[in-house]
Amino acid sequence: MEEYTKEILLPRDEIQQRVRELALEISKDYEGKELILVGILNGVIFFFTDLVRNLHIPIKLDFIRAASYGAGTESSGTIRMSKDVEIDIEGQHVILVEDIVDTGLTLSKIKEKLLERGPKSVKICVLIDKRERRQTQVPIDYCGFHIEEGFIVGYGLDFNERYRDLADIFVLKEKEPSN
Ligand code: PRP
Repeated sequence: MEEYTKEILLPRDEIQQRVRELALEISKDYEGKELILVGILNGVIFFFTDLVRNLHIPIKLDFIRAASYGAGTESSGTIRMSKDVEIDIEGQHVILVEDIVDTGLTLSKIKEKLLERGPKSVKICVLIDKRERRQTQVPIDYCGFHIEEGFIVGYGLDFNERYRDLADIFVLKEKEPSN
């Protein structure tokens, strides 16, 4: 039986509009520079592909696979990296692209690792900045939406690997018990 219900938070048109605005901002900031965009899999897939296709500048792209959550809605606090960047980032401008920053542990650990390789700069672009459970301050250079709380799914974001395929973003809520 389904124990959760979904309430729409960000409709697809609103997401797409904001992604185009972020792409424009990045395109202006990096005009005439070499830029590598690094997506943090898996949740970032749709945001990343929409973002890069709306840029007006040439870029290179690559991915890191990192996961912090076990099953359920609580972060495990441990970040497991199973795929690293393969492009040489030394002397390059890099933007790390992430679907959501929650505790901040994933992004701060990955940024720290990338900085050891001597890039010219590393900035961070997130679709959603969720502040409720922040444990470590990580500077967000480009942000799509701020939310305070709630477990959200859709547009790449999952709950136990479900709901990633939805085009809109929803808040997942526990169903009221019915008598
Ligand atoms: C989610 C999200 C971020 C991370 C954010 O990934 O995509 O990578 O959690 O949480 P944090 O700020 O608390 O570290 P998850 O580990 O669920 O893996 P996924 O991308 O495969 O969904």
